Amino acid sequence: MNALVAGMPHKQQDIAQSVQALLGQMTLVEKIGQMSQVEASHGYAPEYLGDRLRAGLIGSVINVVEVDVLNELQRIAVDESRLGIPLLIGRDVIHGFKTVLPIPLGQAATWNPTLVEEGARVAALEAAKSGVNWTFAPMIDISRDARWGRIAESYGECVLLTSELGAATIRGFQGDDLAANGSIAACAKHFAGYGAVESGRDYATTNIADTKLRNVYFRPFNAAVDAGVSTLMTSFSDLNGIPATGNRYILTDVLRGEWGFEGFVVSDWDSIRQLQIHGLTENDRESAYAASTAGVDMEMAGDAYSNHLPGLVEEGRVSEESIDDSVASILRIKFELGLFDNPYTDPESLPEFANERALQVAKEAALQSVVLLKNDHGALPLAADELSSIAVIGPLADARYEQLGTWIFDGDEELSVTPLQAMRTLLGDSVELRYVRAMENSRSRVNDQFDAAVNAAHESDAVLLFLGEESILSGEAHSRADIGLPGDQVELVRRVRAIGKPVIAVILAGRPLTLSDIVDEVDAILYAWHPGTMGGPAITDLVFGKASPSGKLPATFPRVVGQIPIYYSQKNGGKPPSKDTVVHIDDIDTFAPQTSLGMSAFHLDTCFTPLFPFGHGLSYTWFGYENIRVSANEISIGEEVVVSVELGNHGDIEASEVVQLYTRDLVGSLTRPVKELKGFQRVRLAPRETRTISFKLHTDELAFFGRDGKRTVEPGMFHAWIGGSSDAEQRTEFRITEHR
Ligand code: BGC
Repeated sequence: MNALVAGMPHKQQDIAQSVQALLGQMTLVEKIGQMSQVEASHGYAPEYLGDRLRAGLIGSVINVVEVDVLNELQRIAVDESRLGIPLLIGRDVIHGFKTVLPIPLGQAATWNPTLVEEGARVAALEAAKSGVNWTFAPMIDISRDARWGRIAESYGECVLLTSELGAATIRGFQGDDLAANGSIAACAKHFAGYGAVESGRDYATTNIADTKLRNVYFRPFNAAVDAGVSTLMTSFSDLNGIPATGNRYILTDVLRGEWGFEGFVVSDWDSIRQLQIHGLTENDRESAYAASTAGVDMEMAGDAYSNHLPGLVEEGRVSEESIDDSVASILRIKFELGLFDNPYTDPESLPEFANERALQVAKEAALQSVVLLKNDHGALPLAADELSSIAVIGPLADARYEQLGTWIFDGDEELSVTPLQAMRTLLGDSVELRYVRAMENSRSRVNDQFDAAVNAAHESDAVLLFLGEESILSGEAHSRADIGLPGDQVELVRRVRAIGKPVIAVILAGRPLTLSDIVDEVDAILYAWHPGTMGGPAITDLVFGKASPSGKLPATFPRVVGQIPIYYSQKNGGKPPSKDTVVHIDDIDTFAPQTSLGMSAFHLDTCFTPLFPFGHGLSYTWFGYENIRVSANEISIGEEVVVSVELGNHGDIEASEVVQLYTRDLVGSLTRPVKELKGFQRVRLAPRETRTISFKLHTDELAFFGRDGKRTVEPGMFHAWIGGSSDAEQRTEFRITEHR
């Protein structure tokens, strides 16, 4: 046994040996071919890619999803190229394939890793049926700026929630065995720091201190590597002056050196050639040099590698060993996917698209993703049997495409069930629905239908407004500077409100919107994100109380855009604002005083708190938290403490609650966040049931990366809270001491 395979499991040994055997037969040009991914969606790909495939110049194709075409591409690669190496078939399967699940930010609001994993499995099965064997998801960029359009694709602002849901997604795509029919390789993206782009402008620059990279932005990626993710994608963005695609520190020193990643790294779309546009390199040749020596194994949709790597190797600037390392890691994934045994897809061997199970998972995900932001006087749920008519108003009540959200290349709009359709199905003829779209789309400023909307509201027993933003307002290259309700929606709300009836808003959106303009104008708000194919039935079940809302915010909702970035795990600073330092002006404590009394971290024209905190989400029942306690007041490094609370369901309905554990490390050699999520559990309680909810917390979970870049836990006092949001009030404390 050679040194390479000592200590590896049998299958891995076989793969390692096969990779080396194959590599030994490859020419330099064939090796660089494996490092090239090609866009294949212009016409009939086997015709225009055939010669390059035969010559072994393509390792992967992207953006073809016709199974016959893909089987033919594989056949050419396998039967007609010298070494018969099968292709990786890439596609962005971001939140579903034909069946569309809620946008990732919505899925994050479920706080349910099991459900997120099931959703990814549904997507994998449908994608695999089309011949896709590699997806570019999950996107695990920590996102603390709701202006950034790609927050929709993220799991929000929190390190722990993003890490857990990212790992769950990877498990769902890859399954236990990558070679199993229906498993596809995942790609954790975008490494690293993309979510921190200045002012939320997509592709903009980022400046992130190393301690913050390590404690925040890197952590979900480290968790993805631990979860066995096959591939990683670089970020388009500049990171501290070195664009991610040319950044050896992150791609080699940290990813491989520290974390031991053995999969491969793909660039983002043409991001190698963009190194020149960033101003890092002079030309494509230097970009190929920078990316390959930084650790990018495959180029997506560009030709810098194929044009320039051969020459760079001949000149001796790029070593053939480093090319071999890249190619070996690409071939390894192809072997793990079982492509050398069977590169072809038999669609009949996989379940039907949008089968009952897929739709059920999509509905459950939508149901658990919806967040009840407010519910004054029990405005929700509506009692269908007490109503004879409902006004259904707004541009998003019956918008099949829009409810799917961003990144739905393969999503089937025809499968969508809208809220209006679902309500008609549920209510039949027993309740009259007066539907007024009121606006052509959410951005419209034409308000000539507002009178009709007001009349419908006037004549009906209940009023439902479907507001928000269309799918095109979020996603890649779709950032917004103003994240209020677009168009004339605020005016629509005011007009309807003026008639004096309770108003319920259901908001569909790809990001947290600033809702200060309408929050006091409506009685209840259900925040439904872009809920996907089954959004309508899920929303309808919640509106009519067939289920109780249980989603919790994965991102803080600012009052105004100027508060951004606002997130729960901020630092305290030396002059933190508090409720006591706010001077009350006419009983409103949302403005800082114009005196020296304030002298703390305020904006003068808004409150220091968000409109809705991270983790917030109401239910139709009322959950109470009492009697928080710790199993020990003192533990030493390496031990565990158990933090528990009594959770009571004080209402008459069975319902689910996401119980959240937060801690604060009071003193650190680096200042520590005021709160960090350390655990969460989704629990279901019967009416009037009380249950003890416990979290085991090991001191390792309280470690952080310090000034020396090392992860350590420091002895000292810790606070712990358990509650239903990051505003949890039940608090206890414990001390960590040095090893006994
Ligand atoms: C995006 C990636 C995506 C790729 C392929 C890029 O523009 O940034 O997230 O996977 O395109 O479609």
